[in-house]
Amino acid sequence: MTMNLKSLSAIALLALAAVGPARAVDDSIYRGLGGREGINNIVATMIKLVLADPRINETFVDSDMKRIEIRLGEQFCVLSGGPCVYNGDEMREVHGGLKVTNAQFNALAEDLQIAMERNNVPSYVQNKLIAKLAPMQRAIVTR
Ligand code: HEM
Repeated sequence: MTMNLKSLSAIALLALAAVGPARAVDDSIYRGLGGREGINNIVATMIKLVLADPRINETFVDSDMKRIEIRLGEQFCVLSGGPCVYNGDEMREVHGGLKVTNAQFNALAEDLQIAMERNNVPSYVQNKLIAKLAPMQRAIVTR
């Protein structure tokens, strides 16, 4: 079968129609968190709470908290639909050897929630970010 230019462009149009119009990313959670600045403030508050939280702080004694702070900010930005790139390692890889429990996971989520509350994030936005993190539990909790 020979293809002329006309049939090729018809195929190209069909392919485009199948993909559909480009959809904008929903960044409503990102905006609800206060954008990049809001996320930076939330993560800074969260790190302080985590380091003061006897349920989990021992896990972080040998960690570079500045690195975690930067990576968490990137991750929350991406998850919330913001214009960022996550430059960290995969959750399974990072937490694999830490033997994190469900109780510890929940403690950290609670600290995040308090951090959002203190930074005036509306509760429906808080819940949406927490819901985005919930699927990571399977990769992070190994005990
Ligand atoms: C939703 C829950 C969590 C998220 C989104 C999360 C996210 C992250 C991120 C982005 C990093 C940095 C990765 C990198 O450096 O490339 C990290 C590191 C780390 N996380 Fe988590 N984490 C979660 C839960 C937990 C929990 C419950 C614990 C323990 C109580 C924990 C302990 C650690 C430790 C110790 C590190 C540093 C590892 C190292 O120093 O190599 N994380 N986490």
